Amino acid sequence: MGFYSKYIFPRLLDWSLGNPQMGKYRRRALEPATGETLEIGFGTGLNLPYYPATVSKLTVLDSENMLTELVNQRIAECPLPVVKMQLDAQGRLPFADSSFDSVVTTLTLCSIENTAPALAEIRRVLKPDGRFIFWEHGRSDDQTTARWQDRLNPLQQVIGAGCNMNRKIDELIASAGFEITTLDRFLMPKTPRLLAEMYRGIAKLN
Ligand SMILES: C[S@@+](CC[C@H](N)C(=O)[O-])C[C@H]1O[C@@H](n2cnc3c(N)ncnc32)[C@H](O)[C@@H]1O
Repeated sequence: MGFYSKYIFPRLLDWSLGNPQMGKYRRRALEPATGETLEIGFGTGLNLPYYPATVSKLTVLDSENMLTELVNQRIAECPLPVVKMQLDAQGRLPFADSSFDSVVTTLTLCSIENTAPALAEIRRVLKPDGRFIFWEHGRSDDQTTARWQDRLNPLQQVIGAGCNMNRKIDELIASAGFEITTLDRFLMPKTPRLLAEMYRGIAKLN
């Protein structure tokens, strides 16, 4: 991991994704979470204050270990029991099949290099009646915007430490064998259009 990814990007991430406007969207996205919940791509723990009381236990994982002191403090302040693990979601996760009532990703499917194995693991660890809850940014349905997303994606990958802004999130999820039961597509206010294309929804096992 380079100097930028290790020292600068985590602070940039926490600052840019941690504002009150994002908090409202986080609360809304996490509302459906219940029971034993797994969050993949935990980052700096910005979702922690927004989990509903319907969640009984939270297991969180990320391939990186960012801003450890700040993140541990957030975990300590969270009223839910939280287990944090450093794991690559593209590999086999150390959980039995059908372990979780909810699996959550927020602004993470853009960053996982190879989403197919990660989505396959989400399928495996979800209970048969469990829900995959996602709030992601991705590819625009507007052709001109999508073309600019393609053109500028290599730059975004550098600035965003591997983030892709041109992924068709609903297609990725559906092609992994999920049925999307709810999908809200909207533009995030006060955000550059290329990064504002939001996909918020719920998917269940097909
Ligand atoms: C843009 S951040 C979003 C963080 C957090 N979900 C949020 O909403 O603030 C994307 C996160 O995905 C994590 N990530 C990327 N690839 C991963 C992988 N293969 N396995 C686990 N986490 C990964 C990154 O380390 C980063 O913390």
